Amino acid sequence: LLDKNLKCPGFDSRSIGVFDSGFGGLTIMKSLIEKLPSESIIYFGDSANAPYGDRTSSEIIKYATDAADFLAQKNIKILIIACNTACACASKIIKQKLSIPVFEIITPSFQTVLKESKNYNIGVIATRATIRSQIYKKLIEQHNPKARVLSLSCPLFVPLLEEGHFDNKLALNLAEHYLKPLKKKKIDTLLLACTHYPLMKGIIQKVMGDDVKVIDPSLACALNLLSFLEKNGISSLNAKPKYEFYTSGDTEKFKNIAEVFLEKKIDQVLKK
Ligand code: DGL
Repeated sequence: LLDKNLKCPGFDSRSIGVFDSGFGGLTIMKSLIEKLPSESIIYFGDSANAPYGDRTSSEIIKYATDAADFLAQKNIKILIIACNTACACASKIIKQKLSIPVFEIITPSFQTVLKESKNYNIGVIATRATIRSQIYKKLIEQHNPKARVLSLSCPLFVPLLEEGHFDNKLALNLAEHYLKPLKKKKIDTLLLACTHYPLMKGIIQKVMGDDVKVIDPSLACALNLLSFLEKNGISSLNAKPKYEFYTSGDTEKFKNIAEVFLEKKIDQVLKK
C-alpha cells in the first residue's frame, strides 16, 4: 500500500477541490468518487449564498471567487467549478487568479449533449444566470451549425432541492409547470445544465417522456477530469482517499442531505 504522502514522480496525492453554490456539485462529486476512486476531495457548498442563479453577474463573480480562494488555500492540486452558473460568469476570472489548474464543467457538458443528440434539436435547462449568459446556446450552435438550442430557466428547482425535495409531488408539479413549453418542441435530448438538476432526474425524465433523452453530464465531467489528471501526471494513488466537506450554511442540514445523496457516511461537515 502506498503512503498517502508518498511523492511519486508523475503522481500527486493532494486533494481535488470542488465547489458549488450548495448541494448541486455533489452530483459531480458522486461521479468523481465512482470514476476516480483514489482521489481525495475537498467539497465546499456555498449554501448560505445559494441560489447563485438569481443573482447579478457581479454578485456571482464575488461569491465564486471567494469560494475558489477558500479552497485554493487548502493545498489542492486542481479546482473543479462544479457549478454551471459560476462557470458561466466567473471561470475566466478564477483561472486568471489561481496558480493551480481550474476545471470548468461547461465544456464536457455541451460536448456530451452534442454526441447524444440525433436530430440536433437540443433542450437546455439551467439557472436564470446561465441561460442569460447564452453560453450553452453559443457553444452548441458554434460547434454544430445544424443544432438548434431551446433554453429554459427553472429558477425554483434549486431552492426546492436545497430544501431536500428530490422526489415528491412538489417536485413533480414544479417540473410539469416548467417543462411544459419544451414538451411542445421536437427536442430529442435535454441537457441538465445545472448541477442541482440531476438530483431530480427521475422526475424530469418522467415529465419529458421516453422520446427525450435527459442528459446528466456528471459522469462525462469525471471522465474528462480523469484524462486531464493522467495527461498531466497528477493522478493520485491514495489507497484510502479522504473526503472533506465545508459549507457556509447549516452543517447538520448539509451532512444529512449529503449523506442521503452520496449514499455515504460523512464524519463531519465544517463551517466555512
Ligand atoms: N448548481 C449550480 C449550477 O450548476 C447553481 C445553482 C444555483 O445556486 O442557482 O448552476
